[in-house]
Amino acid sequence: FYVDWDIVTAEKAGFDHFMMKEIHEQPKAYRDTMGSRIDASGSKVVLDEIKMTEEQIGSIRNVHIVACGTAYHAGLVGKNIIEKLARIPVEVDVASEYRYRSPIITPNTLVVVVSQSGETADTLAALREAKRCGARVVAITNVVGSSVAREADDVIVTWAGPEIAVASTKAYTSQLIAFYLFGLYLAQTLGTQEAGYIAGVVAELKQLPDKVERILGQAETFKDWAEQVASHENLFFIGRGLDYAVALEGSLKLKEISYIHSEAYAAGELKHGTLALIEDGIPVIALATQEELLEKTVSNIKEVKARGAHVFGLHAEGETELVKAVDQVFSIPHTLPLLSPALSVVPLQLLAYYASLARGNDVDKPRNLAKSVTVE
Ligand code: G6P
Repeated sequence: FYVDWDIVTAEKAGFDHFMMKEIHEQPKAYRDTMGSRIDASGSKVVLDEIKMTEEQIGSIRNVHIVACGTAYHAGLVGKNIIEKLARIPVEVDVASEYRYRSPIITPNTLVVVVSQSGETADTLAALREAKRCGARVVAITNVVGSSVAREADDVIVTWAGPEIAVASTKAYTSQLIAFYLFGLYLAQTLGTQEAGYIAGVVAELKQLPDKVERILGQAETFKDWAEQVASHENLFFIGRGLDYAVALEGSLKLKEISYIHSEAYAAGELKHGTLALIEDGIPVIALATQEELLEKTVSNIKEVKARGAHVFGLHAEGETELVKAVDQVFSIPHTLPLLSPALSVVPLQLLAYYASLARGNDVDKPRNLAKSVTVE
């Protein structure tokens, strides 16, 4: 298939691996993806690439988000964003499952396909099925002119630039930015949120790139964490709400390149089975950035601590409750809880990167995996 950049000329820009270069390109990817999509007054979103009329947007009854791998995880965050901002019910499906479950797609269904490459066979097949059923399709993709971009009705391009490392980083986070913009755009059009609220979210959105830079400035912390987990064969990620969605992505990242087996669990679900696997010394990465869920997550952290887990916690700066509940803690710069995935995933990318390095793996080209999967 056609890729409109030359992989050979893409350089590592002084980094040892493409993945680390791409992790560091995230602030730029956020800025470029927001770019001209925020109006000059900084108070609302302009998405000229969405050709749907107000009436068409008003007729959307449900949204299906369909994607594979990391893009699917972006979709899980996307569901939260669209439901919260636009108050439309959203389902998220893995593309290889979607077609075979006879999804209920009507002309009032909006299907959002998410694909970095725009060439993933299952995602493309899902898009075609959605169109066959009369749904409108919005694509979120990183490749202008890709198959997905060509066949969708509306295309939101993520301006992350070429991503070479198999483990996706800046593509995922710029997909999140695309979802924030799209969710805000729907909310503006539908009038589901006050203008003042939207302006507030936009203002916070614009601060994310600087906050990612602050996290990147503390990358050594995750080298230290990675060296502690690298000798383990199993670990767990836990979180609630949006933290759970990010936990799934953190776990995938770690599996892909460190080959450490890990599972992400909704923290409240642990006691229904997975708690049986917690034993002395097992590393648990606990995400607790969602203020209103903090207390509940802390009680789940205590459950794993009581069984000997070594807990690494992520919380929002200014919080104190986690400090005494975990063994090691990192503070994410403060933002709106809805926006925290765009920050909290960065430490998990760094953790996976350093764990892969510590285990002597090929960071950019993990075994058995391909950057783009164009077969079903
Ligand atoms: C492959 C890649 C993943 C990616 C997935 C979906 O498995 O290794 O990083 O998330 O495909 O790719 P897409 O290009 O559709 O986002």
